[in-house]
Amino acid sequence: MTTRKVSPKNRKSPSKAKLLRTTDRVDERLDRRNNDAKIDDLQKNTEDSGGEFLTTNQGVRINDNQNSLKAGDRGATLLEDFILREKITHFDHERIPERVVHARGSAAHGHFQVYESMAQYTKAAFLQDPSVKTPVFVRFSTVAGSRGSSDLARDVRGFAVKFYTQQGNFDIVGNNMPVFFIQDAMKFPDLVHAVKPEPHNEIPQAASAHDTFWDFISLMPESMHMIMWVMSDRAIPRSLRMMEGFGVHTFRLINEKGKSRFVKFHWKPLLGLHSVVWDEAQKISGKDPDFHRRDLWEAIENGDFPEWEFGVQIVDEKDEHKFSFDLLDPTKIIPEEIVPVRRIGKLTLNRNPENFFAETEQVAFHVGNIVPGIDFTNDPLMQGRLFSYTDTQLIRLGGPNFHEIPINRPLAPVHNNQRDGFMRQAVNRGQTSYEPNSLRGGCPFQAGADMGGFTSFAERIDAQKVRARSASFFDHFSQATLFFNSQSEPEKQHIIRALRFELGKVETPPIRERMLALLAQVDKGLATSVAEGLGAKVPAKLDKPMNMSIPGGADPRKFQPKQVAQEIETSPALRMVNNPNFPNDSIKTRKIAVLIADGFDDAAVDEMNKALLTAGATPKTVAPRLGIVTGGNGVQLKADFSFLTASSVLFDAVFVPGGDTSITALSKQDGAGEFVSEAYKHCKTIAASGAGVGLLATALVGKFSESDDLGDGVAVNDGVVTSREGSIKGLADAFIAALALHRHWERETGP
Ligand code: HEM
Repeated sequence: MTTRKVSPKNRKSPSKAKLLRTTDRVDERLDRRNNDAKIDDLQKNTEDSGGEFLTTNQGVRINDNQNSLKAGDRGATLLEDFILREKITHFDHERIPERVVHARGSAAHGHFQVYESMAQYTKAAFLQDPSVKTPVFVRFSTVAGSRGSSDLARDVRGFAVKFYTQQGNFDIVGNNMPVFFIQDAMKFPDLVHAVKPEPHNEIPQAASAHDTFWDFISLMPESMHMIMWVMSDRAIPRSLRMMEGFGVHTFRLINEKGKSRFVKFHWKPLLGLHSVVWDEAQKISGKDPDFHRRDLWEAIENGDFPEWEFGVQIVDEKDEHKFSFDLLDPTKIIPEEIVPVRRIGKLTLNRNPENFFAETEQVAFHVGNIVPGIDFTNDPLMQGRLFSYTDTQLIRLGGPNFHEIPINRPLAPVHNNQRDGFMRQAVNRGQTSYEPNSLRGGCPFQAGADMGGFTSFAERIDAQKVRARSASFFDHFSQATLFFNSQSEPEKQHIIRALRFELGKVETPPIRERMLALLAQVDKGLATSVAEGLGAKVPAKLDKPMNMSIPGGADPRKFQPKQVAQEIETSPALRMVNNPNFPNDSIKTRKIAVLIADGFDDAAVDEMNKALLTAGATPKTVAPRLGIVTGGNGVQLKADFSFLTASSVLFDAVFVPGGDTSITALSKQDGAGEFVSEAYKHCKTIAASGAGVGLLATALVGKFSESDDLGDGVAVNDGVVTSREGSIKGLADAFIAALALHRHWERETGP
């Protein structure tokens, strides 16, 4: 593979200013690269085109890239044209199959560092030494939609982390929700077929709100806990940087002595947990379907590197059966109030991919990629995944050598006797490709456990071969109830609304009825509220057994859900509002729209922008048109957006500064009032100063009063912060405090 590096300084760019910016950024990236072994490794295959001759794939320089070879300038194209044929053939084969699930994704590079040695629990090398930075590549995804679908679909988000450790690659292929829909991998194709667009008309794209999904769910009570999560605001995150991640299954940690403990993996975002509202999500899908992808990309380009703490819940082997649920059941969490999450390290994402296809698309995660010190459990969902990932990647990536693709190849050296296959890159020298051998002195040879050779945990098994599910998996509702009971009131209302929306799109009444009956098992009030929105009634009893996910000919009565007494009634760690793990004390990286027109109060904008920037937020100007906007005192600002290119749904908050001429112009502007009223509807923080307060009063008729004067001339009312004549400093302080709360749900009026 050729490597051509072109010094950024030799690149041609249209303007000097742009050149400087680009060059600075490239230098910055090179600095970052130098610290990272995986980035250095990728460099071997990285090409910066520019300043070189255009060539064919055989390296022949091309003279004419405009015209095909013809018999006369008006004649037919000749088969002989190897340049045309090569170019078109390559193009014709540019696409590979998208992932069968999680097709839509965005990824970034970074590193992981453990806070202190975890040697007591695991011999995994990357968890021993706090000074070691392990390179990582992380891909976030939605599950149901195609590659080109909207980021804002109501869906689970994939959260897949590949650690390039000294002992080989370790992948945590998790989600932003800690449980899953099903308990056994046997049901996975059914689940995915049910949620994907319906096969007869390929409708709807990236949405669970349709008959086949709810038909399946209504017959699978084991899904109810996960349904609570996907109907909650967790399924519409504000940013990929502001969501938790979970390994979902129970894994094992194995220490040097061979002692095993159970473990659940967690990722805790340092920017807190935030969501958008459903109406907003749907609008963002139209205004900017790449909203999450762009947000991740821009944050990293701006140096606002997303961070998560790595958490573990560790359970001793002897405690395996002490819980109300089975540790092997992937539809259950271990509540943090029972086993606390210990934060043991930090993940930082600090570099965007160079090439989407080469990295984000070709990366191949696998639950089965583990290293010494980590091991599996018998979770029947995980066991099926252990087969599925390699199998699907064989076809997605075109053969058995996808581990050689640069983004997938480990930093640890690879030596074995596997040979050949499509697209083999390694040129394996020598006569032998088997083991044992004497011709090559036995190489490559096996490693003893003391030399880092992987040995599986010797779990004792004494069992009959059965196709069955343990009765310890049959409590399908208790943790769904725990989740619902743990939500704040506005979050409960959001779940009710989400279910009304989803089931409202279902066209077959019996499916709705079965769902209402299942919801009644979770919480009667929840079921009644959802039913009200559907103009239906919760059925008094079902005419069929509820669990239809049973073997043929089996007695349904033996498979019905059972209720087990729970350890706790609520878990504050499960809610997003007032979650004790995530204090609302920062507005870092939030985007604020500053609405201005010529004549705006430049002093107010200057002071507010400084305060916002100091707090880590990003103010952006929105004006009637692009170009320069001139303030009352002659200060000139570039409009970042016009009302045509911006929308309140793309921002976290709005500031309307005063300036009579500016406010008069904005009042006549199509879109300014709507900008404010929509932000209000979505419970966002809004601030206004001077004449800007008047614009608010008009846009928010009947909703806005300047009631709670904080003193200093600043009034605060449900996240609307105003100052007609008071100090901008006071206004900025109150604005920042209100913004830290993220949303002001008290404005909502119920489902
Ligand atoms: C706890 C349950 C599960 C979680 C957390 C999960 C998570 C993920 C994630 C994050 C990805 C995207 C990987 C990427 O970014 O490249 C993915 C892909 C995939 N998952 Fe799962 N999954 C689960 C269950 C299953 C099951 C039960 C199966 C099959 C038995 C399965 C099969 C697949 C397949 C085939 C892909 C596409 C992989 C590729 O083409 O690279 N998953 N899963």
